[in-house]
Amino acid sequence: MLKRRLGRTDLDVSVLCFGGNVFGWTTDAAQSAAVLDAFVEAGGNFVDSADAYSRWVPGNSGGESEVILGQWMKDRGNRADVIVATKLGSPMGEGKQGLSRKYMVQAAEDSLKRLQTDYIDLYQAHRDDQETPLEEIMAAFDDLIKQGKVRWIGASNFSAARLAQANEVAKQCGWHRYESIQPPYHLLQRSDYEAELEPLCQRDEIGVITYSSLASGFLTGKYHRGGELPKSGRAGGVQQRYMNEKGWAVLAAVEGVAKRLGATPAQVALAWIASRPGMTGPIASATTPAQLEELVGGIDLNLDDAAIGTLDRSSR
Ligand SMILES: NC(=O)c1ccc[n+]([C@@H]2O[C@H](COP(=O)([O-])OP(=O)(O)OC[C@H]3O[C@@H](n4cnc5c(N)ncnc54)[C@H](OP(=O)(O)O)[C@@H]3O)[C@@H](O)[C@H]2O)c1
Repeated sequence: MLKRRLGRTDLDVSVLCFGGNVFGWTTDAAQSAAVLDAFVEAGGNFVDSADAYSRWVPGNSGGESEVILGQWMKDRGNRADVIVATKLGSPMGEGKQGLSRKYMVQAAEDSLKRLQTDYIDLYQAHRDDQETPLEEIMAAFDDLIKQGKVRWIGASNFSAARLAQANEVAKQCGWHRYESIQPPYHLLQRSDYEAELEPLCQRDEIGVITYSSLASGFLTGKYHRGGELPKSGRAGGVQQRYMNEKGWAVLAAVEGVAKRLGATPAQVALAWIASRPGMTGPIASATTPAQLEELVGGIDLNLDDAAIGTLDRSSR
């Protein structure tokens, strides 16, 4: 699978990053292992998780995704071949959230233990924390890097202004900066990212890995106007957010391009993200090896100018 350098790191990541919020939610340990096996077999090496995955599932307490990923790496003996991205800062229980130094130290230890590893390749702030001074946050990340527990750091769900500010603090103090941003971005949600983050990331060579790249499955084309909803834990949310006139219009354009190019809608949706300037690549999750194989095909798909024009016009 095509690889790209993430920001100014030394990480050559597969353009498709596998999204690990399915582990312990819509895929159990065995199914997660099957999908991960298919991913590495297809040449993927980049997996995204978070401490908070999948805390929203009744009976879960958070950490399930990291536990499944850690056990899979241990069983396969492939830790050195996998680029592990995880996150901290989202609520994990009473007093366990945010980016205070004290909590960051604890959260990193907890993630390392669940992942059964002694380093995290890309440690990401899951969301901004405006209560904690940026100096405290960036110093704590830098210490984790100096201790060898973390190799590189990234951010998720940050505004461009806050990302730039945090990196400026790091620069002034000689600390490591955020090398990547993980924003929500897909054909149905473009403007926030394109207005400010995209130019900043291009200017400062910050890697970009997008989430909800398939609009949680809507852009695969399996949702139909007036039809029965697919059996998926995501279907209710998809219906609420994307099953509207704009959603159907964009999906029609995606399906049209897919038909002309002999590809599938999911492949077109991912290829479009991968074609954006300065883009590292899309994160996407899959619940079966078959779904995963389809997604991998999107990374090899070249969209011609006509295809990009059609997709842009329908989604702006
Ligand atoms: N940083 C953040 O705040 C944040 C937030 C959300 C997500 N993320 C990251 O991004 C990853 C992916 O995001 P996401 O789960 O929102 O959604 P997504 O990648 O947009 O959609 C993935 C879902 O679409 C369905 N799907 C995938 N391939 C398919 C195919 N070939 N055919 C039919 N259906 C297919 C599967 O769900 P079903 O089978 O259930 O339909 C799959 O789980 C997460 O795992 C996580 O790593 C990060």
